[in-house]
Amino acid sequence: MTEPTDDTTSAEVAADTESLRARALEALVTARERTTLLTSCVEDPELTAQVSPLMSPLVWDLAHIGTIEEQWLLRTVDGQEAMRPEIDSLYDAFEHPRSERPGLPLLPPAEARRYAADVRARVLDVLEGAAFHGTRLTEAGFAFGIIAQHEQQHDETMLITHQLRTGPQALTAPDPDPVPLFTGPAEVLVPGGPFAMGTSTEPWALDNERPAHRREVAPFHIDTTPVTNGAYQAFIEDGGYDDPRWWTSEGWNHIRRHSLAAPLFWHRDSGQWLRRRFGAIETVPADEPVLHVCWYEADAYARWAGRRLPTEAEWEKAARYDPVGDRSLRYPWGDADPGPQHANLGQRHLRPAPVGSYPAGESPLGIRQLIGDVWEWTSSDFAPYPGFTAFPYEEYSEVFFGSTYKVLRGGSFAVDAVACRGTFRNWDHPIRRQIFSGFRTARSAEIA
Ligand code: AVJ
Ligand code: FE
Repeated sequence: MTEPTDDTTSAEVAADTESLRARALEALVTARERTTLLTSCVEDPELTAQVSPLMSPLVWDLAHIGTIEEQWLLRTVDGQEAMRPEIDSLYDAFEHPRSERPGLPLLPPAEARRYAADVRARVLDVLEGAAFHGTRLTEAGFAFGIIAQHEQQHDETMLITHQLRTGPQALTAPDPDPVPLFTGPAEVLVPGGPFAMGTSTEPWALDNERPAHRREVAPFHIDTTPVTNGAYQAFIEDGGYDDPRWWTSEGWNHIRRHSLAAPLFWHRDSGQWLRRRFGAIETVPADEPVLHVCWYEADAYARWAGRRLPTEAEWEKAARYDPVGDRSLRYPWGDADPGPQHANLGQRHLRPAPVGSYPAGESPLGIRQLIGDVWEWTSSDFAPYPGFTAFPYEEYSEVFFGSTYKVLRGGSFAVDAVACRGTFRNWDHPIRRQIFSGFRTARSAEIA
């Protein structure tokens, strides 16, 4: 067998300067449109309020987006002086935990908007004359790409804040198209053997996705679709939250201490499960991927079902491996950038799509909805790949490596395509469930 390779086409990487400039511009503009919507759909006083100690006030995210953009694109790439050096430390995520941020002398909403807009106006000037090669930061517009991704990640964070907020609905979006009940096979066999994990060629991939390396995986079966609300309800009805057999000891202690008995935002009303979603109360839809579960809940469900969570390497092989070409694709459906036919991304809808949606997005092995809908918990700790080097700064990924964070893969309905790909890695504490998290399960194949 030939050595599997990570072979994003070189045409991708060699795209000409003007198309890179257009791509960078489009990514920045798209992110700012979303940021503007998320920070203008509620009254200004709400932007400075703290909805939950887990989240920043929205006005913090807004100015933080500006400071990071200023730091990398204006000061580092273009060599400009700091515009407002006195505010830098207020928006440094490491200096101030989220719970403390409302007490800081933050820029009020109008000033935060003006600051972010001033930074952006200068950035667009820099972009007009930018070169797209020369250093690692300028190569293929990498610095612009990571700044667009950073803003989009905060747009997902701000959407989480909106979901936690109580009161009347501030955001609306059309529902995904209904689909016939999914009747395909429940699981798919992924063959054992090596595959290329991570990337060395994806131009805007972050440091933690690099480099591409060979990974050996034993054969396993993985769910064709994410676990649904209906399946998760069966776990609840079967007493899953009352049976320590299904839980790790930490997970058991955690659910006891906090009296957890269902996903976040769910409640029972006369024998029916209801949920709160962006201010509206609705029946929990049985055929939609389960959302707002922590790692402990995903892990317990899998054990109850006689299965387990996939490892991160298994997830990526399921999502990217094409047995016909013996190579790793950029996305489950191939190398093309995500379109609306492939996946539920970009806050186009404010919920996951029913399982069985997006047949055009399935992997070569027939696995559905790996990208978009819900972030999927894996069993793996967040760790560097062999050959990892921190770039452009250690605080993006490196300081989070270790056993306190679990890896999530695939992206949710709330993440934009620019910050989501087959190699993209997200991470969070195993207790977190305000994030748009779900999961699918796996089992090892018997080796004959
Ligand atoms: C990759 C989502 C874990 O929000 O903490 C935003 C992304 N890093 N600003 C986070 C991030 C710096 C990060 N996650
Ligand atoms: Fe940030």
